[in-house]
Amino acid sequence: MKNLLAPTFHPFQVIKNDAARSEAELADIIAEPGFGKHFTDHMVDICWSERGGWHRPRVQPYGPISLDPSAAVLHYGQEIFEGLKAYRHADGSIWSFRPEANAARLQRSAVRMALPELPTEYFIESLKQLISVDGRWVPSAPETSLYLRPFMFAKEAFLGVRPANKVNYYLIASPAGPYFSGGIAPLSIWLSTTYARAGKGGTGAAKTGGNYASSLVAQQEAYDHGCAQVLFLDSEEGKYLEELGGMNIVLVKKDGTLVTPQSDSILEGITRDSILQLAEDRGHKVERRRVTIDEWREGAANGDIVEAFACGTAAVVTPIGLIKAEGFEIGSADAVAGELTLSLREELTDIQYGRREDTHGWMTRLDA
Ligand code: PLP
Ligand code: COI
Repeated sequence: MKNLLAPTFHPFQVIKNDAARSEAELADIIAEPGFGKHFTDHMVDICWSERGGWHRPRVQPYGPISLDPSAAVLHYGQEIFEGLKAYRHADGSIWSFRPEANAARLQRSAVRMALPELPTEYFIESLKQLISVDGRWVPSAPETSLYLRPFMFAKEAFLGVRPANKVNYYLIASPAGPYFSGGIAPLSIWLSTTYARAGKGGTGAAKTGGNYASSLVAQQEAYDHGCAQVLFLDSEEGKYLEELGGMNIVLVKKDGTLVTPQSDSILEGITRDSILQLAEDRGHKVERRRVTIDEWREGAANGDIVEAFACGTAAVVTPIGLIKAEGFEIGSADAVAGELTLSLREELTDIQYGRREDTHGWMTRLDA
């Protein structure tokens, strides 16, 4: 059996927040959580240094982080993060979905960004520790959850350009409703032909802040065109689908085949991987390959491509109704949500909320 505790695993110190929100304040927040607006009473903080490795894990009151103005992250952006959710089941228990996959992706991102790898056991323990003090923040209304945001950055005060010798890992949490204000109404998406998100040999496959910073101007372009997200193409030929600013993309053909872009420069989404597995379990064919925007245009026009959806932790599974681009459109703003899209969404959320058997062993209990 796998050793559950890494050799470097230290016990967590817990410092309680004396100013924790009252039950009444919490009830008001949870009644209308929005997304990423409110934060729980505590956070996790673990230090790393080249000489000491991972040390001094603690749960402490949520609050500002003190940084030296020369801290490397502020200059060179050496930072990575993750996103996953804690779900409350009908019996009150609290669960997360494939947290070991997020831990593994954080490790891959760390390697790419020359940051230290946090052992999986430490990562999962950080989730459990935060839930042990802030479990009351996990909402129970349908489609709500506690969004968990682990992140890590270079704290060393030093202006030379090299990997930092002092790094901290943090975990914060935020009660969440739907990411998009329209819920699961089909999205309009802007296709950017001006900007690329990532390039060959770049950091596209890592979950690092710079990828999001570079997407913001394109995301603004999307808003300006009345769209909720931006779709990026590959940076070399500008014709292969990559992903959206904050989620992956999947197309559905009329024979039930699911097609999703394969590329070294997109983030390997855990939601996408899970949805494709569920589709395969049902007997659908899944193609992970390069796919051009022209293939989508032609397929949508001749009836070969019948659905498209965005997927990610925040977005869950959200249908795509319209792609708007300079000079052409695919689909329409008043398209109805695809049938397979909705049924895969339902199956996934049923597993996450404990309404359906977890045959893949994807769920990890956080409150016990
Ligand atoms: N792609 C990007 C750029 C993202 O930010 C996300 C969200 O985390 C995803 C894809 C989907 O990943 P996951 O399903 O693991 O949340
Ligand atoms: C997530 O889905 O967890 C993300 O990080 C994407 C972001 C749009 C919130």
